[in-house]
Amino acid sequence: MRISQEYFDELKGQKITAYTLINNNGMEVTSLDFGCIITKLVVPDRDGVLENVVLGFDTIDEYVTRSPYFGAIVGRFAGRIKNAEFTLNNEIYQLVQNDNSNHLHGGLKGFDKVMWETNVVENEDSASLVFSYLSMDGEEGYPGNLLMKVTYTLNNDNELIISYNGKSDQDTLLNMTNHTYFNLSGHVKRNIFNHQLILKSNTFLELDEKYIPTGKILEVNGTPFDFQIGRKIVDGVNSNHPQNILVGNGYDHPFLLNENNNNEILVMDSESGRKLTIETDQPAVVLYTSNQLPDSFSIRGIQSEKYLGLCLETQGLPDSIHHPHFPSSILKKEEVYCSVTKYKFSVY
Ligand code: GLA
Repeated sequence: MRISQEYFDELKGQKITAYTLINNNGMEVTSLDFGCIITKLVVPDRDGVLENVVLGFDTIDEYVTRSPYFGAIVGRFAGRIKNAEFTLNNEIYQLVQNDNSNHLHGGLKGFDKVMWETNVVENEDSASLVFSYLSMDGEEGYPGNLLMKVTYTLNNDNELIISYNGKSDQDTLLNMTNHTYFNLSGHVKRNIFNHQLILKSNTFLELDEKYIPTGKILEVNGTPFDFQIGRKIVDGVNSNHPQNILVGNGYDHPFLLNENNNNEILVMDSESGRKLTIETDQPAVVLYTSNQLPDSFSIRGIQSEKYLGLCLETQGLPDSIHHPHFPSSILKKEEVYCSVTKYKFSVY
């Protein structure tokens, strides 16, 4: 295992560092101390060719001005909270509105836009980046001083393991994810239409026109939302299902996972032979097929457009605080939030 670090850029006089973990097979993960942003993930194809499989930029200005959360850690709350407000212990909390009148991905300055203190840890068969951040009481409207730790570990089995650890001095809400846009073709050679996805999920959440869960849990059976035996992403692009059309022809939906830590999410690209297996302890995964990716910029020299990346955001359910039948995302005072998601890369 090797770890390297280099100057990435500067933001308002603050130096931003890029850390790279490299395993014995040549797999590499590069992350910034700003937003814990994964800028590059280099993995082999079936011929052993090492290429980057995530969307990212080379300057901090691009991340700050136009990034739709490329590679970033999202918190305190992944997804939307309706009307940017919630009641907890009889107190009303007003959050920052950054998605019409709603709250999205932790607000205007969420965990994707703050500096994280970074430590590197090297072991024989793995290496880790340990990021820490103290989110103050009232930040973006949330209660409680929250101490967060996010750890990225790369091992010699070509696994990237993301673990989240949080503790607050007051009851609060917490729902963490990583917002990487995968494109297994390598260096974004093709869009994600032919990525094959298998999901162990038989239900998903219905969304309203503002992408807020209506509260209805729908069955996937007989719809383009049924990924149980596998289907290509393009099915949801061409679909007439009102939920696919609503989100801009594709997917932007939370799927409830039937199983955890048992190969529940699988993505395959037949041309490169790359396969990504995701295992998590979280109740859901948001499948977002970058239907809203604007065509007004370039991504490392490639013209940006819809469907260039596939997000698989393992998390709790969006807006759960307004739906008592959803799994709760309340973190009790002094209790420990602990969650792990594992991304394993292989070929077939
Ligand atoms: C999430 C949301 C999408 C969009 C992207 C970022 O996946 O559900 O609607 O906001 O993040 O652009």
